[in-house]
This record gives sequence, structure tokens and C-alpha cells, in this order.
Amino acid sequence: MKQNHLFLFPFYTFYFFLLLFFSTALAHSPAPAPARLRNPTNVTKILRKAGQFNTFLWLLKTTQLDTNLNSQLGTSNNGLTIFAPSDNAFSSLKIKHILSSLTHQQLVELMQFHVVPSFISTFQFDTLTNPLKTHAGSGGRFLLIVTTNGNTVNLSTGLTNTTIDKPVYSDDHLAIYKLHKVLLPLDIFIPKPPPPKIQPDEEEEDDDIYDPNAKEKSEAVSFYVRCNLILFGLIGVTSALFCL
Ligand SMILES: *[C@@H]1O[C@H](CO)[C@@H](O)[C@H](O)[C@H]1NC(C)=O
Ligand SMILES: *[C@@H]1O[C@H](CO)[C@@H](O)[C@H](O)[C@H]1NC(C)=O
Ligand SMILES: *[C@@H]1O[C@H](CO)[C@@H](O)[C@H](O)[C@H]1NC(C)=O
Repeated sequence: MKQNHLFLFPFYTFYFFLLLFFSTALAHSPAPAPARLRNPTNVTKILRKAGQFNTFLWLLKTTQLDTNLNSQLGTSNNGLTIFAPSDNAFSSLKIKHILSSLTHQQLVELMQFHVVPSFISTFQFDTLTNPLKTHAGSGGRFLLIVTTNGNTVNLSTGLTNTTIDKPVYSDDHLAIYKLHKVLLPLDIFIPKPPPPKIQPDEEEEDDDIYDPNAKEKSEAVSFYVRCNLILFGLIGVTSALFCL
């Protein structure tokens, strides 16, 4: 089975370069239609203008999530919702202590936990399915539950309960809500389970668990693929030169 796949690699790579050649040719054809007519939205600019989000802004920059969010706004059709804790929310001793103890990866996670990868208007909170999925992920370690009662919208993470304020900013694809508390995901505070130990006896029973040759095999395959890519890259360039 594996051998058959290997045999087909040259054909795949050939078609890849054929496609590449034609798409390059098309890209040079005149009058391409504009992909989208949306003005770029700048999250940093909006938050800076709103004031009172200096710590959140600093964290966005430190984790490089700011450029990430801006580019997502330009490409995603689902929009974004950002829960932005105010400077007051970050000023408590408890939060300062927690922030100073986090690794860079945990900081990134904390910030991603405040971003929902879809646009939620004020009126849509009572239509949402719990738990909410954030950029940090979903599941028990990143629980985010929304409850509504009339105009009140509460968020709960298992560690933080808070009520969201009116949007600081909202258009048709970006909503930013001010929070009075920092949303703490359970993930950062629950110790990770230790990786399961492989029992030496079990190893022999089930060879799916550990295959000492697996790495070698995959290295051989990738070397083979690389050779093919180089070879057909050369053929592609040569035929492109002949076309000129
Ligand atoms: C967004 O705005 C900030 C502050 O005004 C600026 O420094 C940054 O370059 C802007 N980013 C983009 C992608 O326009
Ligand atoms: C939201 O939280 C407030 C304050 O903790 C509480 O009084 C209110 O009952 C909560 N509302 C909902 C819908 O959970
Ligand atoms: C959050 O609210 C829930 C239900 O209202 C309550 O059981 C829980 O103790 C609260 N947690 C915190 C950290 O305040």
C-alpha cells in the first residue's frame, strides 16, 4: 500500500507545478476583480481611542495578538468579538500576582481566551450555545458560559463571574465589550495531568503505541518527497522559460 503511494508522488508534484504555472499565468491576466471592499479595522486604534484599556493593549502587543486580530478581521467573514477587561480589572493585587506568574504561552492563552472568533451583537447573547468557543479553544479547561436575563449578560469561567457592559465598539463584524474582571480560564490553574507512562509489557502487546522505526520511515519519505519537488521544480522552471 505504502509503496503505491510513494510511486504516485512524482505525478502529484507534476500536477502541483502545472497548477502553479497556470495560476501564475492567470495572476498576470488584466483587470482582476477586487476581493473585498472592507476598510481595514484596527483593533489597537479602537481600544486606544476608547481609553481605559492600556494593560489589555500592552498584553495584546506583548503576545503579538494585535497584528493577528487585525489580519483576521481583514480575512474572516465571521468577524470577531473581544471581551476587553478595563485597566481597573487588571489593577487588583490578585490579578497582578497571577499575571506575573504566567509563562509567555499562558499569557497568550489568557489573551486568546478573551476573543471569540465570531461577531456577537448585544442582541445575540441569548441565542448562543454554551459553552462558548474562544480563540484559546473549547472544552472543560477553557469553559466560558454565557447567561442572560433581560438586558443583563453574565460570563462565567468557573473561576470568574462577571457582567458585560455595553459595547465599547460595534460595527457589523467586530464587537468589543468592556469587562470589569479579567476572565481566568480553568486551564491555567488546573495542574496538567502527567503524561501517561508506557508500561514495558504493554509495549509488546500493542505495537501501535511505539514504533522505533516510525521516525526513520517518515524521514525517508520526506527525503523522497523533497527530491521529487526539486526535480519537478526544475522541470517547471525550464518549461516556463521555454514558454517565454
Ligand atoms: C493600528 O493602529 C496603531 C495605533 O494607531 C498603529 O501603530 C498600527 O500601525 C496600526 N496597524 C495597522 C495594521 O494599521
Ligand atoms: C448576573 O450576575 C449578577 C451579579 O453576580 C447576578 O445578580 C445576576 O443574577 C446574574 N444574572 C444572570 C442572568 O445570571
Ligand atoms: C459564580 O457564580 C456561580 C453561580 O451563580 C457560583 O456558584 C460560583 O460560586 C461563582 N463563582 C465565583 C468565583 O464567584
